[in-house]
Amino acid sequence: MPISIRTIHDQLELKGKRVLVRVDFNLPMDENGKITDTTRLEATEPTIRYLIQKEARVILLSHLGRPKPNEHDERLKMDEVAKTFSQIFKIPIKKMDKCFGKEVDQAITNLKNGEVILLENTRFHCEEEKNDPQFTKTLASYGDLFVNDAFGAAHRAHSSNVGIADFLPTYAGFLLEKEIKVLTALLETPERPLVFLVGGAKIDTKIGVLEHFLGKADTVLVGGGLANTFIHASGYDVGNSLCEKDKENLAKRLMAECVDFHERFLIPTDVIVSDKIAEDAKTFTLAIENVPKDLKILDIGPKTIEKYLQIIQKAKTVVWNGPPGLYEFTPFARGTKSIAKGLSNLQTTTILGGGDTVDAIRKFGHSFKEFSHVSTGGGAMLEFLEGKELPGVKIVTMAK
Ligand code: 3PG
Repeated sequence: MPISIRTIHDQLELKGKRVLVRVDFNLPMDENGKITDTTRLEATEPTIRYLIQKEARVILLSHLGRPKPNEHDERLKMDEVAKTFSQIFKIPIKKMDKCFGKEVDQAITNLKNGEVILLENTRFHCEEEKNDPQFTKTLASYGDLFVNDAFGAAHRAHSSNVGIADFLPTYAGFLLEKEIKVLTALLETPERPLVFLVGGAKIDTKIGVLEHFLGKADTVLVGGGLANTFIHASGYDVGNSLCEKDKENLAKRLMAECVDFHERFLIPTDVIVSDKIAEDAKTFTLAIENVPKDLKILDIGPKTIEKYLQIIQKAKTVVWNGPPGLYEFTPFARGTKSIAKGLSNLQTTTILGGGDTVDAIRKFGHSFKEFSHVSTGGGAMLEFLEGKELPGVKIVTMAK
């Protein structure tokens, strides 16, 4: 069904308004608390600059990580995020130590037109994930309007990204709008042939989207750890590899449901194996019939890469979620590197998503401009592509 999105363009009067903006600044960090990827932060720039230019008073809200309820884990405070924000955007930002209370009240009262405040990690309060009405009401009291720009969190129904919409006029930011438009067009009117390339470690998180795309895509290409379960379910030994044997019946059912299975649903025919996961690992290329008991499958092999690239090159739309190999280690990176290169700068619609996929394309030196759309959603993108209605999307859309 066509949907219409309420965006900040629909809100003409922004000058002097207190605008609560929910962003997804849940940025990956290393063990020292250093931010390792700023994609999600950079993606919110159009919305934030627009609001500043319109002289709104901008109050940013986000979660970071998964802190234990009511535990103010120092490593998950928003300080690093605020620092990174002002370094990248060259916009001063006032970071609060709390989400509410006297100091926050004061700071928001004093906030001038075009200035920006970032509240503390919303998940420091257990009420956030419960969408607690009182907590939500307190957050909502800081705004005149609510803008949701957190596509990455759109599959959650929490106070700061969904609950607030019960109290304030609600609009989509430009990032959320773009994600909804691109992914809706992909589901409803894809240019064909449509190819879905899925990888990653486990079947569990991908099963919904796999099922959905089996009925939608012209071809599904499988790689990564999850391919091992399909390889095993097809009757081959996967040696010492990651393999979810308890999901094998599910894998068999999916393959059986796909009548023209060998045409439309491809699993690797050859693989890279090794006895260890390390930079100095010795590797072998083997047909899937020949994987010995003591070795692990860690990447797709050259014949599979060639076959997958041939199919990709004939496609009009390609969706890629999850790397086909353990790309973090050089000996097992070739599959992911080749797919990233093969997809870059194609005259085809290329839609990518998932934390590891985005990390891999950066690692192999590609810029986002080389692809049609790089989604900021991991779980959110998968759930959207499963055809689910996401709570964070529902609050800014209305059926036409
Ligand atoms: C994500 O990283 O996918 C989003 O920020 C949501 O985070 P969550 O899975 O911890 O809810």
